Amino acid sequence: CRDRDNIPPGPRPWPVVGNFGGFLVPSVLQRRFRRHRGRAEVENPVVALTEHANVYGNVFSLFAGTQLIVVLNGYEVVKDALSNRPEEFSDRPDIPAVTIMTKRKGIVFAPYGSTWKKQRRFCHTMLRNFGLGKLSVEPCIHQGLATIKTELLRLNEECGGAGVDLTPLIRNAVSNVICSMTLGQRFHHEDHEFRLLLGLMDRGLEICVNSPAFLINIFPLLYYLPFGVFRELRQVERDITVFLKDIITKHRETLDPENPRDFVDMYLLEMMSQRAAGQEDSSFTDDYLFYIVGDLFIAGTDTTSNSLLWILLYMVLYPDIQDKVQAEIDEVVGKHRVPSLTDKGSLPFTEATIMEVQRLMVVVPLGIPHMASKTTEFRGYTIPKGTVILPNLWSVHRDPSVWDDPDSFNPARFLDDDGKLFRRECFIPFGIGRRVCMGEQLAKMELFLMVTCLLQAFKFRLPEGKPPPPLHGRFGLTLAPCPFTVCVSTRT
Ligand code: HEM
Repeated sequence: CRDRDNIPPGPRPWPVVGNFGGFLVPSVLQRRFRRHRGRAEVENPVVALTEHANVYGNVFSLFAGTQLIVVLNGYEVVKDALSNRPEEFSDRPDIPAVTIMTKRKGIVFAPYGSTWKKQRRFCHTMLRNFGLGKLSVEPCIHQGLATIKTELLRLNEECGGAGVDLTPLIRNAVSNVICSMTLGQRFHHEDHEFRLLLGLMDRGLEICVNSPAFLINIFPLLYYLPFGVFRELRQVERDITVFLKDIITKHRETLDPENPRDFVDMYLLEMMSQRAAGQEDSSFTDDYLFYIVGDLFIAGTDTTSNSLLWILLYMVLYPDIQDKVQAEIDEVVGKHRVPSLTDKGSLPFTEATIMEVQRLMVVVPLGIPHMASKTTEFRGYTIPKGTVILPNLWSVHRDPSVWDDPDSFNPARFLDDDGKLFRRECFIPFGIGRRVCMGEQLAKMELFLMVTCLLQAFKFRLPEGKPPPPLHGRFGLTLAPCPFTVCVSTRT
């Protein structure tokens, strides 16, 4: 095909599998590869991908089978495509495993077009409103923090100096924020229903990313196999469907139009108002509501909890920075009231520290895949319609042309000479352009409140004699820190 004559350069693909033999192998194969080589851990594959840009340039191509993938590296290139050329680069590819499960409804994997636009606009407004008024999300975050604090003290006492794994506590608090906002329900972390929902989501994601079910992307009919992980995946999907549909039905039965309780209520009201206005072909349906709730859980839980875990890990690795953050909190907030969102503008060093960890450890390092919606010329190359576009956000945040000494941890890079916070255009952990993260404001609120409240209350350190975890992280759907434990002592 002539469109392919001028595609960006890249490593030579193997017949049939393309460049899958390199870094795009699913992690189940990587693990085997790792054992075979006798190595303890595999490097973050995004680092290897980023190094390819040194050989082939900031726009290079790969093949997954016969599917062309173009990887965009560095801030200028990513901005040029996603921000300056939104009509060409804002679509999502049709990834078989994802399409089977989401029917391309909801927001995250919905095709670029008017339905996505209407759904996104409505949901975005709702999420923004949760920062304000009587549906404010702040009390809910504080409630989660109160639980973390009590549990952390208890576990710290019980662990006898071996340290506490923060992951379950943080994940519980973060997913409870989404639960309260969307479903109007908070769950205790030992609640049976809650553990069931989180367990199902974890298992579903684990199967998709880390098992032979990944092959559904190459041979979609495998999804229907009546055994093994394929059957389990269908069962997980059915269980999640029953769980969420049941909650939606209960909302409908108890809906009070004067007092919407949460996101589901507001969506149901929007559905009713569109129907009352005679919009029979409205996309606001039960089906969309179901997939959007699923999207909010999946997009909002691991991203935010892993960001928090990275921040706390950096605090134990850099105790001097932890001390500085705590000194700022003590000075501005004191020790006797809990930090609130109104303190945000007054804690520049704390904010700079959060941003610096987000820069170094981009939890969605390759963003979410985009797709070229028509054949287009880009930076001297032809990008054929249907090409998968991977914005390498990792490379943007380690780009030496925009960041001094990009591999070093230095929160001060986000402060001006007067110690005031200044936003850098090339800081885009939430993406850029029309598909920019819909939960950005919510995630920032959660990160700020959780970091300030935890550091106000506790001093975090590594357990005596335990080496720090390696910093390359674990690469799945998001980049998580390798397991680590911490000891805490109270400050207030
Ligand atoms: C998309 C990052 C938290 C909802 C994205 C994208 C990134 C991202 C990089 C892809 C942008 C693109 O396609 O170009 C993050 C990070 C988070 C976070 C780093 C936390 C620190 C959240 C939360 C929610 C959320 C809390 C919702 C409750 C979404 C949705 C999309 C998205 C719905 C898809 C947007 C679309 O396709 O139009 N996020 N996210 N995210 N995020 Fe987040």
